[in-house]
Amino acid sequence: MPSILITCYSRTGKTKALAEAIGRGAKTVDGVDVEVLSFNRISASDLVRYDGIILGSPVYFGGVAAELKELIDDTTFVRGKLVGKVGAAFTTAGDRTGGKETAILSIVQAMLIHGMIVVGDPINPETEDAEHNGGHYGLAADGKLTEADFAQAELFGKHVANVVKRVTA
Ligand SMILES: Cc1cc2nc3c(=O)[nH]c(=O)nc-3n(C[C@H](O)[C@H](O)[C@H](O)COP(=O)(O)O)c2cc1C
Repeated sequence: MPSILITCYSRTGKTKALAEAIGRGAKTVDGVDVEVLSFNRISASDLVRYDGIILGSPVYFGGVAAELKELIDDTTFVRGKLVGKVGAAFTTAGDRTGGKETAILSIVQAMLIHGMIVVGDPINPETEDAEHNGGHYGLAADGKLTEADFAQAELFGKHVANVVKRVTA
């Protein structure tokens, strides 16, 4: 069965809450094994076991937290073993203009370098809110997380899981 790992660094719990919502959404897709794991349980060598890898970090000074960067840097030791896997990224920030896209893009950049198939956060066709309907490069939220953020996270998880299912079929 195709498998997906969702993990993130999170110091105060916001990014982790989003990871759990992504996991809920991914688990709605039949025939895909979804694991939401604590960051301290993951090393770079674990990533090779999964068909889909969804990584998250809070925005720290417009980039990712050093802890996530360390994991990304460690993937140099599994270079070549992540080719063709599906990847996606998510983040939370304190501020609306806090650097969410630059943080997401730095995760996505590493995934592209590994030859992974990167999946973004598409516009939600079901929402009536035309201005807050998708995160473009990945899932992003700022400030206090809202029900809309969690709904978008679930949709994102479902979307990535569907892509993993299709890619591995
Ligand atoms: C060292 C540090 C740097 C931060 N830098 C930014 C930043 O550049 N932009 C921003 O909007 N928020 C910034 N924040 C706020 C966090 O991104 C935000 O609170 C995030 O949601 C925390 O996620 P967590 O609860 O998963 O740890 C920073 C926080 C810390 C501790």
